[in-house]
Amino acid sequence: MKISKMTLSQQLPEEIETILISQKEIQSRVRDLGTQITRDYEKLLGKTLIKNPPITIGLLRGAVTFLADLTRTMPIPVEYDFMQLASYGQSHEAGQLALVHDLTRAVAQRHLLVIEDIVDTGQTLGFLQEELLRRHPASVKFCALIDKTPRRQRVINLDYFGFCIERDAFLVGYGLDYAERYRNLPYIACLKPDALKK
Ligand code: PRP
Repeated sequence: MKISKMTLSQQLPEEIETILISQKEIQSRVRDLGTQITRDYEKLLGKTLIKNPPITIGLLRGAVTFLADLTRTMPIPVEYDFMQLASYGQSHEAGQLALVHDLTRAVAQRHLLVIEDIVDTGQTLGFLQEELLRRHPASVKFCALIDKTPRRQRVINLDYFGFCIERDAFLVGYGLDYAERYRNLPYIACLKPDALKK
C-alpha cells in the first residue's frame, strides 16, 4: 500500500522513529504476566484472596493503560487504587519527588501490587517503596511493563517485568508520553531524536 493511500490512523506519527514493541507483542506479554501474577497470588494467599484481595496501585498517569489491560487478564479478585508523584526542584532524576495524589484507603496488612509503565532511573519506584513500607502492608510487589536500564540510579528489584530495554531511547506509547502526547498509541515506539530538540 502506498503511503499516500494510508489513512491517518495507519500512519506512524511524524515524530515517531520506529515501533519497538508491537501491539501484538505487548498483548501476548501482558497475558503471560497476568497468568504468572495470578498463580503467584493464588499460591501466596489461597482462600484468603477472597477476603483480603491484593490492591493494585497504579501510578498516574502512565500506568493506567497497562494496569487496565493487565488486571483484566487476572481472574482473581483485586482492588484498584492510584498514586501520583511529581518532581520538584531541579529534576526528577535528582530524586526530588513528592506525593501529589495519595491512596484512598489504609493499606496496613494488605497485599500491594504496584503497577508501572516504565522504570528508568528508578527514582519513582525507590521513593514509592519507602513510602509504602512505612504503611506496614502485608506484602509489596512491583511490576513494570518496561525495565529500561541505561539511566538507572537506584537498585530496583522488580517482581515482574514485561520487557527489558537496554537502549537509551525516548519511548512513547501504551501509556508513555512526550509532552502528554502519544499515551494512547497501542504500541511502544522510539521518538525521533530531532523531536526532542524542538
Ligand atoms: C514516568 C513513568 C514512571 C517514571 C519512571 O512518569 O510513568 O512513573 O517516569 O521514571 P524513573 O524510573 O526515572 O523515576 P512521569 O513522571 O513522566 O509521569 P507520567 O506517569 O504522568 O507520565
